[in-house]
Amino acid sequence: MVAIDAMLLNQSPLTLHRGNPMSNNTSLTRLLNSAFIGSLLTIVVLASMSPSVSQAYAAVDTAIKKITLPASTITLPKSALPGYNLALQKCTICHSVDYIHHQPPGMDQKAWTSAVLKMQHSYGAPLSESDIKSIGAYLSVVYGSAKVDDPTIISASQLPISAPPSDKALDVQVLLTNNGCTGCHDINKTIVGPAFKAIAKKYKSDTGAISKLVVSIRNGGTGKWGNMAMPPMNVNDKQAQALAEFILKQ
Ligand code: HEC
Ligand code: HEC
Repeated sequence: MVAIDAMLLNQSPLTLHRGNPMSNNTSLTRLLNSAFIGSLLTIVVLASMSPSVSQAYAAVDTAIKKITLPASTITLPKSALPGYNLALQKCTICHSVDYIHHQPPGMDQKAWTSAVLKMQHSYGAPLSESDIKSIGAYLSVVYGSAKVDDPTIISASQLPISAPPSDKALDVQVLLTNNGCTGCHDINKTIVGPAFKAIAKKYKSDTGAISKLVVSIRNGGTGKWGNMAMPPMNVNDKQAQALAEFILKQ
């Protein structure tokens, strides 16, 4: 459907005509003629589509030539549990919060933890063992019957004490993978977030770029590149700085 639209929309009626003997006519007739064939084409195509598809096509045709999906309004319930920030960061890479929100009610900690584990096992979500436990605990509190002070919730929410910054902690590729950056960003093309090359270009002559990007990486944000939001990232200042330097070099 999208492919068809793109094809139709990009096809200027005049191109359809190339090589047509009529092309020797005055430009006015040519224009009228091409508009005529263009609308004929549209009618034929519309007639062969189901009503909803043709309606959608008409809407796309008359509006701007861009299809925007409605943004989901469901957000993750706020919580002081560390699993909340982790979920913000790692659970919106591939799908909206709707998937999480529409699970059957009353799932317990075990059920939520295995739902999160499935994201890692089956779909390759970038989650460590402690991320899985901690997000499972958070989800079972906000969506299930578990309580913040249940002993099993407390123990599952304990995050590993971060090792002192070593060379490994500043390995940019590891940081990019472990924090899910690569789920939303590519070097060359836009995914959920802007391409790293586009970011480097935008900040090329900005002498304060590194510190601006450190803030953006740590706090997340929205509105600078579009209406998608980047959640706050769980990295320290040094790690954010290494990431910002890497991105600006692209
Ligand atoms: C790497 C991509 C990816 C990430 C990251 C991810 N998911 Fe999913 N998730 C999927 C896919 C794929 C499906 C299945 C979609 C379908 O069946 O239509 C899914 C479906 C779901 C479902 C619906 C039930 C099911 O098992 O199909 C829930 C609940 C869910 N995800 C929760 C989460 C949570 C919580 C997180 C964060 C820990 C998360 N997802 C992160 C890819 C991902
Ligand atoms: C869930 C998706 C998602 C994840 C995960 C994510 N980003 Fe983003 N990122 C975005 C979006 C969306 C934007 C655009 C925000 C805006 O328009 O202001 C963005 C913007 C940025 C920017 C530009 C900020 C600016 O001020 O112009 C940088 C730099 C960046 N991300 C780096 C990272 C790094 C590094 C990571 C991993 C530590 C990461 N992102 C993880 C979605 C994501």
